[in-house]
Amino acid sequence: MARLFKRMQKTKVAIIGLGTVGSGVARLLLDHGDRTARHAGRILWLEKAVVRNLSKARDCELPAGVLTDDVDQVINNPEIQVVAHLVGGLEPARTIMLRLLESGKDVVTANKALLAEHGPELFDAARELGRSIAFEASVAGGIPIIANISTCLSANQIESLHGILNGTSNFILTKMHDEGAPFQEVLAEAQRLGYAEADPTMDVDGSDAAQKLAILAHLAFGARVDWKDIPRAGIDTVDVCDVRYAKEMGYRIKLLATADLVDDTLELDVSPALVRVRSPLAEVSGPFNAIRVEGDAVGPLFFHGQGAGQMPTASAVVADMIDMAVGRTAITFRTLELWSNRKARVTPAPNDAARAKFYLRVIVEDHPGVLAQVTTVLGKHGISIASVLQREPIEAQGVVPLVIMTHETSEGDAARACEEIDGLPPVRGETVRMWVRD
Ligand code: NDP
Ligand code: HSE
Repeated sequence: MARLFKRMQKTKVAIIGLGTVGSGVARLLLDHGDRTARHAGRILWLEKAVVRNLSKARDCELPAGVLTDDVDQVINNPEIQVVAHLVGGLEPARTIMLRLLESGKDVVTANKALLAEHGPELFDAARELGRSIAFEASVAGGIPIIANISTCLSANQIESLHGILNGTSNFILTKMHDEGAPFQEVLAEAQRLGYAEADPTMDVDGSDAAQKLAILAHLAFGARVDWKDIPRAGIDTVDVCDVRYAKEMGYRIKLLATADLVDDTLELDVSPALVRVRSPLAEVSGPFNAIRVEGDAVGPLFFHGQGAGQMPTASAVVADMIDMAVGRTAITFRTLELWSNRKARVTPAPNDAARAKFYLRVIVEDHPGVLAQVTTVLGKHGISIASVLQREPIEAQGVVPLVIMTHETSEGDAARACEEIDGLPPVRGETVRMWVRD
């Protein structure tokens, strides 16, 4: 076997960024070179790994001469053909990506923020320069959802995608549900374990999931969506009492990213939602992600796996590097025409008409007649109530939480009713409203 590898051709590769994901990629290339060589039919030879800070301890051992803090050692080396670009954020990540493409490299990235924000510019540049970009790791970490949607399911019209796309949020919600653990403490643990972004704001405010949903919506529906236009809320809006009430009613709260094709328009949403205990999405725990895809020919499919973390993400990156080395990516990249100027196939629509049951939590003053005022407003908007839970008063404040589960209604009616409820004199603060996805 060793002799066979000696005779094999080398494809020289580089890694930019040797943090959580980059170190995992280096470990797969260096410790399992035989595996990658078998699949690629050639050796993926790690020529350079670029970091910012040379004196930082690394989670992998590199051969002498590989580590550098000078990205030009990659850009100016014509022998390096494939680069795993694993720097987060927008700049200098965007500039590095453009320089890599201009210098003739094919680029693998896990940076969904970069693609969601600068996809058209980067993909146009790659096409003009005859290069390819691969990005399996940018959505749902180790789950091969990009390849499945863009190639394996291409005979289908995808009708819906419902997913848990942020590992950090799911890790936090799982700990809140199972252990009643406080948000900040669990967030710090998610950061320690390498699930969260360097700045975790976009993990917990729903932006990261919206960026991933925008990428999936582009692939699945041909919709060119600005991720900032997707209605979104994050788990930073979830109180531990909502997790508890949901549990009492037989639900779990999950940060769900949803895309539904309804009469040629696309309804998109990212928000915490109640899902019934023991349904497949409710059972997705810790840093795991899942996506339920419905295609008109194949029917429903369910993908489940680790959506964040070192080795699951590195698994997706290295598979992309192998595909690039053997020339598969160049073909799919050309035919997919990603973020090109071709006409969008479907357009995103406001969610006003989208129908669902809703969970409402209203904090009201604790005196007679208040419940009737709230239910009157709901009735006025045609919203029928499935159940009401009134909990013990919060003594010091003289208020009481009312937890209401509605029957199916439209998002628009639910939003308007909540706005009116918030204007009632005995109501304190804003009504919490979450979708119920049975
Ligand atoms: P880290 O913050 O752990 O690592 C980033 C790396 O980039 C560091 O090694 C840093 O160098 C290096 N870097 C930053 N700026 C430069 C620069 N100008 N030149 C060279 N190197 C630079 O991030 P992650 O590994 O967690 O994430 C990388 C990308 O992968 C992000 O886009 C992230 O969203 C995405 N991703 C992450 C997942 C995860 O589970 N962590 C999962 C899926 C995607 P230094 O170490 O010297 O500071
Ligand atoms: N911070 C991201 C998450 C990493 O928690 O899902 C994977 O994209």
